Amino acid sequence: MEAKEITMAKLNPNKFIEEKIRELSATVGNGLAINALSGGVDSSAVTMIGHQALGDRLKTYFIENGIMREGEAKQIVGWFRKLGVKVEVVDAQDKFFRGLKGLTDPEEKREAITQAFYKEVFGPLVKKSAARFLLHGTNYTDIEETVAGVKRQHNILVQLGIDTVKVYGYKVLEPLKELRKPAVRKVAKALGLPAEIYNRPPFPGPALATRVIGEVTPDRVKTVRKATRIVEDELAGVKCFQYLAILHNDMVTGVRGGKRDFGCQIEVRCWDSEDAVTGKPTRLPYPVLERIAHRITTEVPGVVSVVYNITQKPPSTIEAI
Ligand code: XMP
Repeated sequence: MEAKEITMAKLNPNKFIEEKIRELSATVGNGLAINALSGGVDSSAVTMIGHQALGDRLKTYFIENGIMREGEAKQIVGWFRKLGVKVEVVDAQDKFFRGLKGLTDPEEKREAITQAFYKEVFGPLVKKSAARFLLHGTNYTDIEETVAGVKRQHNILVQLGIDTVKVYGYKVLEPLKELRKPAVRKVAKALGLPAEIYNRPPFPGPALATRVIGEVTPDRVKTVRKATRIVEDELAGVKCFQYLAILHNDMVTGVRGGKRDFGCQIEVRCWDSEDAVTGKPTRLPYPVLERIAHRITTEVPGVVSVVYNITQKPPSTIEAI
């Protein structure tokens, strides 16, 4: 593997930041770079390092891909405005849903998102801005799992042998590639990001698409988005690594008002984990699970069943696709 890990024990966050700022300034020079901010701890840390290194020579975009959580664009742009970083929102929903249309295979869905991101959205953005570099929040685990063939993380290109300059017209820079998530959080804190960002539970690059089994349509995303908000509301105070809602592809029989109601099933997962490489389901109190089930089946149209996943990773993964 090309990147070497900097462990938590070895990491000096301030020294790391200084070094990355120096490297980025030297590589980009007087040129321009762009990056996509999703609001997760990785892309937030990269955005701050990038702005400290390049100032106005880094343009930061929030890609509204139609598969983000409720109110996400507004919230993230607001957080960064307070930090003095301007973020431009790019509406690319059609491009993503067009790419995802008809696909049910997990890896094909991931590939469609990758193509929509790098070719359809960033290609034109790079051309328009004349940037030569794309900054990325790739971390050590993303590379490790992709190279090992566990799952293709959508932001991995170079490590798969993809020549981004040839294929997309820009070079990808990955300042966090030596760090795992806990180390990225330490760096994010040292960068002056607020606790709501550096403590933020992870959220995958391919967003809610990793939580829709089967075809990713605007309607199905709407269902999983509503369930996600409820799960995030109810589990916000729980000490754990990550929690999520998944929309199943099979329909199940339910009963409402004494009549058969054939509807959707939502799966809830909540994980205890250090670094996402392995994980155990959190032993949530039963009343919490019951409240989640009640809220989802009453507040999310079309859902008649809610299940809690009790499988460990491995053999499960954290997300559904
Ligand atoms: P899995 O599902 O592979 O998830 O066990 C491990 C961790 O990575 C997140 N995840 C992703 N993050 N791009 C990302 O940036 C991705 O394509 C991706 N897929 C999964 C997941 O939320 C978990 O924290």
